[in-house]
Amino acid sequence: NLSFLTSLRLNDCGLFGKFPARIFELQDLETLDFSSNQLTGPIPSCLGNLSRLAYIDLFENSLHGTVEILKLENVTHLQLGGNKLEVLTESRTMNATLPKFRVLGLSSCNIKEFPQFLRHEQNLLWLDLSRNNLSGQVPKWMLNISTETLEYLDLSVNSLTGFGQPSPVVLPWVNLQVLRLYLNMLQGPLPIPQPSILYYTIFDNKVTGEISPLICNLSALQFLGLSNNKLSGMLPQCLGDFSDDLRVLSIQNNSFHGVLPQAYTNTSNLRVFDVSLNQLQGQLPRKLANCLMLESLILSKNEFHDVFPFWLGTLPKLKLLSMHHNGFYGVIGKQKRNLHFPELRILDLSHNNFRGEFPSEYIFSGNPMRGITLGQPTYMRTNSSLPVGGASQPYLYDFSITVTNKGVDRYYSKIQEDFGVVDISSNKFEGKIPEFIGNLKGLRLLNVSNNILTGSIPSFLANLTLLESLDLSQNKLSGEIPQQLTQLTFLASFNVSHNNLTGPIPYRGQLTTFDVTSYEGNPGLCGDVLPKKCGDPNASQLPPSTKEENDSGFGFELNWKFALAGFGSGLVVGVVLADVAISRSREWFLEIVGRIRLIIMKRRKSRGPRHSIY
Ligand SMILES: *[C@@H]1O[C@H](CO)[C@@H](O)[C@H](O)[C@H]1NC(C)=O
Ligand SMILES: *[C@@H]1O[C@H](CO)[C@@H](O)[C@H](O)[C@H]1NC(C)=O
Ligand SMILES: *[C@@H]1O[C@H](CO)[C@@H](O)[C@H](O)[C@H]1NC(C)=O
Ligand SMILES: *[C@@H]1O[C@H](CO)[C@@H](O)[C@H](O)[C@H]1NC(C)=O
Ligand SMILES: *[C@@H]1O[C@H](CO)[C@@H](O)[C@H](O)[C@H]1NC(C)=O
Ligand SMILES: *[C@@H]1O[C@H](CO)[C@@H](O)[C@H](O)[C@H]1NC(C)=O
Ligand SMILES: *[C@@H]1O[C@H](CO)[C@@H](O)[C@H](O)[C@H]1NC(C)=O
Ligand SMILES: *[C@@H]1O[C@H](CO)[C@@H](O)[C@H](O)[C@H]1NC(C)=O
Ligand SMILES: *[C@@H]1O[C@H](CO)[C@@H](O)[C@H](O)[C@H]1NC(C)=O
Ligand SMILES: *[C@@H]1O[C@H](CO)[C@@H](O)[C@H](O)[C@H]1NC(C)=O
Ligand SMILES: *[C@@H]1O[C@H](CO)[C@@H](O)[C@H](O)[C@H]1NC(C)=O
Ligand SMILES: *[C@@H]1O[C@H](CO)[C@@H](O)[C@H](O)[C@H]1NC(C)=O
Repeated sequence: NLSFLTSLRLNDCGLFGKFPARIFELQDLETLDFSSNQLTGPIPSCLGNLSRLAYIDLFENSLHGTVEILKLENVTHLQLGGNKLEVLTESRTMNATLPKFRVLGLSSCNIKEFPQFLRHEQNLLWLDLSRNNLSGQVPKWMLNISTETLEYLDLSVNSLTGFGQPSPVVLPWVNLQVLRLYLNMLQGPLPIPQPSILYYTIFDNKVTGEISPLICNLSALQFLGLSNNKLSGMLPQCLGDFSDDLRVLSIQNNSFHGVLPQAYTNTSNLRVFDVSLNQLQGQLPRKLANCLMLESLILSKNEFHDVFPFWLGTLPKLKLLSMHHNGFYGVIGKQKRNLHFPELRILDLSHNNFRGEFPSEYIFSGNPMRGITLGQPTYMRTNSSLPVGGASQPYLYDFSITVTNKGVDRYYSKIQEDFGVVDISSNKFEGKIPEFIGNLKGLRLLNVSNNILTGSIPSFLANLTLLESLDLSQNKLSGEIPQQLTQLTFLASFNVSHNNLTGPIPYRGQLTTFDVTSYEGNPGLCGDVLPKKCGDPNASQLPPSTKEENDSGFGFELNWKFALAGFGSGLVVGVVLADVAISRSREWFLEIVGRIRLIIMKRRKSRGPRHSIY
């Protein structure tokens, strides 16, 4: 009845039920925003009847039906993504005036070809055609639309193979700030956007060849995601310092070789540097220590040959250092006091050639409560506000990591701030398990297996009350398993096999839930699960039911899911998780290394255009 209403914004209101058709009696309506609700049912066909309507945002509902886009001749802002809508992009009346869109959001609209009317759209600021069925080459004419105006282009999650033949090296849109091309089948050389670009992701494609040195011109770039492609050659030397604003540089799982770029300036904003799964060689550039903002450095699965990078110990924010499967070597030893990695909480040195004493306690001195907060857990991420489409919006990048546990690689798509991991397995570390380990209150995974550690299992490990996985196997540990370890109630994985342990397996708590593979290879050890029973009658009177349940591995799985469940719940209210991302990350055990994950806040004060993640 509010017949003079011109603007109706009911976004994020928890509305459900059918689309209210009587809205179309409001003849003066110019702005209609029902985004991010749960409206269902068919979309009314009279959407085009309101001649003044210029702004329609129905993003993220469950509407279905068909929208004849070209009937909306006065609409400049159309966001229909995240529904189950079909769009008709052909005009029945040949001479109809075409709408002049500024914002056009048509993700998940089952579009199979680039709509022809786009040829005439020269004022687009924002174009989202992600999650459709586009395949083959991007038509040539697409490279000639809105070349002056376009700031946001999302073609991700389609089956596109290229930008035409021969493929242009530099893309034409001179004001483009965000370009999302991930999860396509793009081949050929890496397309380079214009220097206006702030955010560029093209991971999960098939681009080949070397990175063009033209990338050095992208001096405003903040996020660059090139992972899971087939890029090769040496990294351009500019890659370390071509943009002071660069926060995330992720090139993992390509075929790059040669050494890392040498220059990093102390004005660098680099927070995440992931080069894992390549064939990079040689020493680490000492100038990496200039990147004072660095929080996550992932070097794993390369051919680096260097000593332990103590000089990174001055980085005030480094939380995550993963170096596994390389040729790092030597004794870590004691270093100067100021090199103590004040924020480090995830350290993976496994599968290298380190030897000598267990990593120095300096690595973990200073701040034993790393990341532990008494309030709600937060996640390791970087966050940047990009001024795209006239509205500043936060772009988030969640740190991710793959950790090997019981021989299985687990991909963590998000990491809680207080999540501690120490993995030094498969080196030649010797000596005792040092006491300072008991200080790392947030430690969830400790793996020291396959070294030559001696001495007994220290009882202070029981102080690590959050420990979920403890692997001490394949060392030369002796003595008894301390009774105190039965206090570790979160322990879901435990392995002390192939040592020289003696005495009985403690018969209380979690330690009774592990099967023979956790204990075998210790000739002096006795217990119910072992061939060698203990003399103590109490030891063999375990209720068998408990044991069977957990022997199936159920307890293990359950605990892992429990540990991970926190990642999805509560806290991150208002974050859009794209369907593809969710369905993938639900399969927790998939080995997806270092997928770049950029999440855009769904809840926004400023009403900019809509889109989904990455
Ligand atoms: C809305 O208008 C109709 C007539 O146009 C009237 O019958 C009805 O009472 C009005 N409703 C309200 C809530 O004012
Ligand atoms: C919408 O307009 C069409 C003709 O343009 C008309 O037939 C139809 O009744 C209108 N619908 C509404 C709900 O006003
Ligand atoms: C677009 O606006 C013009 C002028 O305001 C009006 O004459 C025309 O009917 C509108 N078109 C549609 C499809 O509503
Ligand atoms: C299209 O418009 C032109 C002039 O603007 C007119 O001559 C022509 O007849 C129109 N064609 C159709 C199919 O309406
Ligand atoms: C693409 O099209 C095929 C059939 O044409 C369909 O089965 C598939 O679901 C479509 N995919 C998407 C993402 O719409
Ligand atoms: C590109 O678009 C402009 C303006 O619409 C037009 O003048 C020009 O001919 C087009 N160029 C190509 C190669 O299509
Ligand atoms: C890259 O930058 C150089 C100099 O900074 C300039 O000469 C060149 O035209 C730029 N290339 C592109 C494609 O922008
Ligand atoms: C690496 O990328 C290839 C595609 O190039 C993909 O098939 C493979 O699963 C990726 N490996 C990992 C560990 O992500
Ligand atoms: C960066 O280096 C320059 C010269 O090398 C020095 O003057 C400046 O203080 C340094 N800035 C920081 C933040 O360390
Ligand atoms: C992102 O940063 C902005 C300010 O820079 C802050 O208001 C917002 O809470 C941050 N969001 C998250 C999820 O960290
Ligand atoms: C373990 O905890 C006990 C009691 O809280 C404390 O006395 C002891 O110092 C701790 N040991 C280590 C190594 O942190
Ligand atoms: C195992 O430990 C015992 C002492 O408990 C020692 O005598 C023996 O040499 C050790 N065996 C090995 C292989 O280290």
